[in-house]
Amino acid sequence: PGADAGQSASGPAPRGSGQLRSHQWYGSGISSGLRSFSHRARTRQLGYLPEEHLGKPVVAILNTWSDINPCHVHLRDRAQAVKRGVWQAGGFPLEFPVATLSETFQKPTPMLYRNLLAMETEELLRSYPVDGAVLLGGCDKSTPALLMGAASVDLPTVFVPAGPMLPGHWRGEVLGSGTDMWKYWDEHRAGAIGDCELAELESGLARSPGHCMTMGTASTLTAAAEALGVTLPGASSIPAVDSGHERMAAASGLRVVDLIRADLRLSALLTREAFEDAVTCVLGLGGSTNAVIHLIAMAGRAGVPLTLDDFDRIARTVPVLANVRPGGGPYLMEDFHFAGGLPGFLSRITDLLHLERPTVAHDRFGDQLAGALVHDDDVIRTRADPVAEEGGVAVLRGNLCPDGAVIKHIAADPALLRHTGPAVVFDDYRTLQRTIDDPALGITPDHVLVLRGSGPKGGPGMPEYGMLPLPNYLLKEGVRDMVRISDARMSGTSYGTCVLHVAPESHVGGPLALVRTGDPITLDVAGRSLTLEVPEEELARRAAAWTPPPERFERGYGALYNEQITQADTGCDFAFLARPGTVPDPYAG
Ligand code: FES
Ligand code: MG
Repeated sequence: PGADAGQSASGPAPRGSGQLRSHQWYGSGISSGLRSFSHRARTRQLGYLPEEHLGKPVVAILNTWSDINPCHVHLRDRAQAVKRGVWQAGGFPLEFPVATLSETFQKPTPMLYRNLLAMETEELLRSYPVDGAVLLGGCDKSTPALLMGAASVDLPTVFVPAGPMLPGHWRGEVLGSGTDMWKYWDEHRAGAIGDCELAELESGLARSPGHCMTMGTASTLTAAAEALGVTLPGASSIPAVDSGHERMAAASGLRVVDLIRADLRLSALLTREAFEDAVTCVLGLGGSTNAVIHLIAMAGRAGVPLTLDDFDRIARTVPVLANVRPGGGPYLMEDFHFAGGLPGFLSRITDLLHLERPTVAHDRFGDQLAGALVHDDDVIRTRADPVAEEGGVAVLRGNLCPDGAVIKHIAADPALLRHTGPAVVFDDYRTLQRTIDDPALGITPDHVLVLRGSGPKGGPGMPEYGMLPLPNYLLKEGVRDMVRISDARMSGTSYGTCVLHVAPESHVGGPLALVRTGDPITLDVAGRSLTLEVPEEELARRAAAWTPPPERFERGYGALYNEQITQADTGCDFAFLARPGTVPDPYAG
């Protein structure tokens, strides 16, 4: 697979330079006023001749490159390739450095800052002379953040996914970032591997620029962007350091200028049909549970209603065909790419997709899948031989999660998918870390580990604590999975019988706040239920006695976050960003 610029998209008649949004800034002659005179003078100050830029579509390249973000460290070069494409097509590229969200380094979690990057994206595009945008990102939250902000502005836009890093290697084994980090850390805690092996693993796990190369959150969300139709076909799986990745960036720059001339905006692409296809895609990939939150938030910005129930309904119709870690296995994103990438994968489920909608590359989504091939039926399975019969995510309801919870059941031990056991409750993650290995807690494999205080407000930012560590004495006995429940998220590269995103969260008084150690809890994935087996009257008594925990942030961004953040089932956007309404154009306002 390789990204191609495709055929020209349909839309209104091509726009002349006088109709460009940027024309309001630059004008067309001496008579057009002091402000455009000043903008032209300042563009000369930037070193450009008027004939290099005047009257040309201005393309903002929003770059999440940073020295601290290993997933995006190659994006400074890629921005140059995008510029090449924009110049070739007769546009005028301008690069804007924007916030970098590094899943690895940013604490407590970049989820706290997804909406900040979304705000920055929206306001930069709105306040500068921009006719269209190319968005560069890929590490987990950067994809939804950039697309949420861009959807709110609604300009012609192409997303350039950062691409997966190369596969890891260690002592003859192929390693997945994230997934194998957790696995070998547990092996180390169980005493199965020593310090020297761990030191070698440090060098082998992540060996090139690019985002995580399992079907974690990053790969899931960039695939969702491709399924939405906002990347070039085949773009999302190209390895970050492959020369094809640079060519895809250049082609995206070429393409966005066409989109501006055709006035094909994000709103024409981000329809209900597109989001249903993105959900189908994510589920068929066995992708990350984080996609549930992010797709709901992205759809909200596009004015498209999308709910947890859509995920559960669609999941029952979509088989998992991607045999990629951690949902399937044993393959990694590079294998997936060379097996046919997303076009190959989607070509196997075209009966489940909406083929008549437009994308950045084609008038019909179906046209960009028409010639797609699969080159390896073990990596991208056939419908007759799926990894799982049903999509990887189930939505649970019950008195413990009245607004829903999710579980990635294909990454769970099948024996635990129907289970009743006594709760062991931890009020926060630090307490859990400090006490989990204490044999005095007497935890058995039948217990249900419950973590609260880790939701959107309580975490804060819903940290990826959802794969709760098991007691080391059980690990040493060979136990590798238990039922775990929390209001946290889980890394897309994690696995286990982990019920996540319990809503409402404990911090705002959700029933999770009322669970006590010893209470029986029943998980029934087939029945889609999660039940706290405690009488209603007793729960009412506990609720009456419950007091909300103190707020952590007295000032700053965290205070805004606390005031505005919505719960997991509605996408964790800020209420004031998610709501519909108009914002004045800077020149009209
Ligand atoms: Fe960036 Fe995994 S750390 S994608
Ligand atoms: Mg992650």
